[in-house]
Amino acid sequence: MRIAMIGTGYVGLVSGACFSDFGHQVVCVDKDADKIAALVRGIMPIFEPGLEALVEHNVRGGRLSFTTDLAKAVAGADAVFIAVGTPSRRGDGHADLSYVYAAAKEIGDALTGPAVVVTKSTVPVGTGDEVERLIRETAPEAEVSVASNPEFLREGAAINDFKHPDRIVAGVEDMRAREVLEAIYRPLNLNKAPLLFTTRRTAEVIKYAANAFLATKITFINEIADLCEAVGADVQSVSRGIGLDNRIGPKFLHAGPGYGGSCFPKDTLALLKTAEDEQVPLRIVESVVKVNDARKRAMGRKVVKAMNGDIRGKTVALLGLTFKPNTDDMRDSPAISIVQALQDEGAAIRAYDPEGMEQARAVMDDVEFCSDPYAAATAADALVIVTEWDEFRALDLDRIAGILTQPVLVDLRNIYSPDEAARAGLRYHGIGQVEKVV
Ligand SMILES: NC(=O)c1ccc[n+]([C@@H]2O[C@H](COP(=O)([O-])OP(=O)(O)OC[C@H]3O[C@@H](n4cnc5c(N)ncnc54)[C@H](O)[C@@H]3O)[C@@H](O)[C@H]2O)c1
Repeated sequence: MRIAMIGTGYVGLVSGACFSDFGHQVVCVDKDADKIAALVRGIMPIFEPGLEALVEHNVRGGRLSFTTDLAKAVAGADAVFIAVGTPSRRGDGHADLSYVYAAAKEIGDALTGPAVVVTKSTVPVGTGDEVERLIRETAPEAEVSVASNPEFLREGAAINDFKHPDRIVAGVEDMRAREVLEAIYRPLNLNKAPLLFTTRRTAEVIKYAANAFLATKITFINEIADLCEAVGADVQSVSRGIGLDNRIGPKFLHAGPGYGGSCFPKDTLALLKTAEDEQVPLRIVESVVKVNDARKRAMGRKVVKAMNGDIRGKTVALLGLTFKPNTDDMRDSPAISIVQALQDEGAAIRAYDPEGMEQARAVMDDVEFCSDPYAAATAADALVIVTEWDEFRALDLDRIAGILTQPVLVDLRNIYSPDEAARAGLRYHGIGQVEKVV
């Protein structure tokens, strides 16, 4: 199959590279000329494990190329995927569909033969109808089908997720779209990944319902963690105790500082906007959004409390800034709210992140970025673990205790235990655990 991928970001680049690895002929398009120029030179615009080698292999094999020329990529393609951003619209939380609609019009202008246009971006229900209308308005003669194929990959594990998905959802309105998507995903279907065909609107709803459900699960365990702290119970044992129940499952039950990232915050808001427009209240999702927003701010207060209530003139060292490990993505990371809250209380911030510091510089002011965890901790009054990168899992806690001015470890990901911190002489404050005082 000849595929044009419009938008070469986290989703477009990974999807394009994986499709080419299956043997399809893929051209990735982006408006960002610097991004494309870098990719042509073999430089990845994002950090994603395994991506550079995958891209290089398929470029060398002649199956994957990059361009800013949308018209050339679309001409002759069997399928054109739209994988552009759908950020939150300022003010009302609705998904900003301007990039999707602009891409649809450009595709309409560029179509030269029959093609299936597939929306991979996360878009509110009904967007596929509008994409189809825009293309038909621009190209009334075009033989075009419009399908929805939402993406479920996770940053940090994106290639594995794409190649071994739990399921592939394909929303189609005609046989041609179904046949083309079947052909594109055949290599995965052979691996027994279920290819679930639905209508276009249903596929659009599935994506938002999935993200809202996962955001709910995280928020649920976060509130249970607060209860554990109040009553002297341990949330990790509670998670295990409920997660072993097959009806519940163990995933997304790790209490932490609240969900962030490029999807859950904006997608929950967009779903609420759709619900409001349709006058169908989604009260559970409303609560999830409110609880999670409050939680991110509360994490700053938790650090202040761990430092005995007054942090003016003190230094706090943060480990991990990205919203989760193995990505450089800072979008809506809890670290942003935490840094802001601590600065508002008068603390100086020092921070280290293995991959996210370049992107963090763009969204955080007055932070001293350090070369490693120990440089960040040196002479700080507390160490806060915000993101559970592997390299923070085996820190030399004795060394940390020796270089901190005050022995305070706030572990927002529960990667250490109160006992091991206490052995190093550190005062430990985890999430949903009883504080260990030494
Ligand atoms: N990031 C994730 O983990 C993830 C997972 C599942 C779904 N999604 C969804 O996928 C979509 C893309 O997300 P992302 O994180 O890859 O976004 P991104 O911001 O990383 O990438 C989008 C890219 O599209 C390009 N672009 C915009 N308009 C264009 C046009 N008309 N022609 C060519 N290129 C254009 C931008 O320059 C940018 O490089 C969003 O709807 C998102 O919700 C993201």
